[in-house]
Amino acid sequence: MALVNLKQILMETRDKRYAVPSVGADNHVLFEAILKEAESENKPVILMIPGFLLKDMDPRFFEYARLRIIQSSVPVCLHLDHAASYEECMNGIKYGFTSLMIDGSALSFEENVALTKRVVEAAAPCGISVEAEIGHVAGGEGNNNDGNEVDVNAFTDPDEAQRFVEETGVDALAIAFGTVHGIYKGEPKLKLELLDEVRERVDIPIVMHGGSGLSDEDFRNAVAHGISKINFCTGLFLSTTEAARAAIAEHNNKMQLPAVLGVIERAARKEISHLFDVYHTQPIDLGNIAHK
Ligand code: 13P
Repeated sequence: MALVNLKQILMETRDKRYAVPSVGADNHVLFEAILKEAESENKPVILMIPGFLLKDMDPRFFEYARLRIIQSSVPVCLHLDHAASYEECMNGIKYGFTSLMIDGSALSFEENVALTKRVVEAAAPCGISVEAEIGHVAGGEGNNNDGNEVDVNAFTDPDEAQRFVEETGVDALAIAFGTVHGIYKGEPKLKLELLDEVRERVDIPIVMHGGSGLSDEDFRNAVAHGISKINFCTGLFLSTTEAARAAIAEHNNKMQLPAVLGVIERAARKEISHLFDVYHTQPIDLGNIAHK
């Protein structure tokens, strides 16, 4: 069975210095494309669905997702991204997610600790991992505006990060050190020395949100400085849409849906393959995971 939790899929990332892509997969086409590429390259992958979409999705999609992943040859984590409340996390558990992100990053430190701790206490006995965020990555999930500005005032404080991990028992920590969700306003600039400081104080996997719009060099630097999981959504949505648009135009608007879906799948697989390359993602021995 290749369905694993976040702790298991990130287990070797720190020592071996690689990151696992965490990619938006809230529909069949992208879900399948990402998984097929992971299987063909024998690489682990995290498939994620944002919390705000849960209420509009058919719960049978999650049954399909779990079954498909269980039969897969590679380790896959099914991750609920940016759940906004305890209740949303409990729905995530009900639907079979193996990992939950509870996002209390806009709350006070104490409120964020209390909320995260409550989710960890409910999830841990079920073998479900929890990611939380300290500091705040600006931009919001799923917005389509022209650009978001990095908020330096919301960068992660390394002392707070350490205290947060100790007090919550969380499995992975998202930090703010120069990224935004969605399109960047201006040139992104990662504060790698801040990442180093957090990494020295925190011994669980560290997560970078807002991967879209970063350069290959940014990705390689982030991984070299200890990032274990990199979230990537907007870039995948834009590049697949653009590939479809270009192919349709090339065929004088005469292309039919099955062919368009094929174009989208190929474009998505190409993007995922590129992420595996720049994140330096390594195969994982499933036997190794089972014994941890
Ligand atoms: P992007 O859409 O900017 O890649 O960010 C994705 C993300 O961080 C989801 O949590």
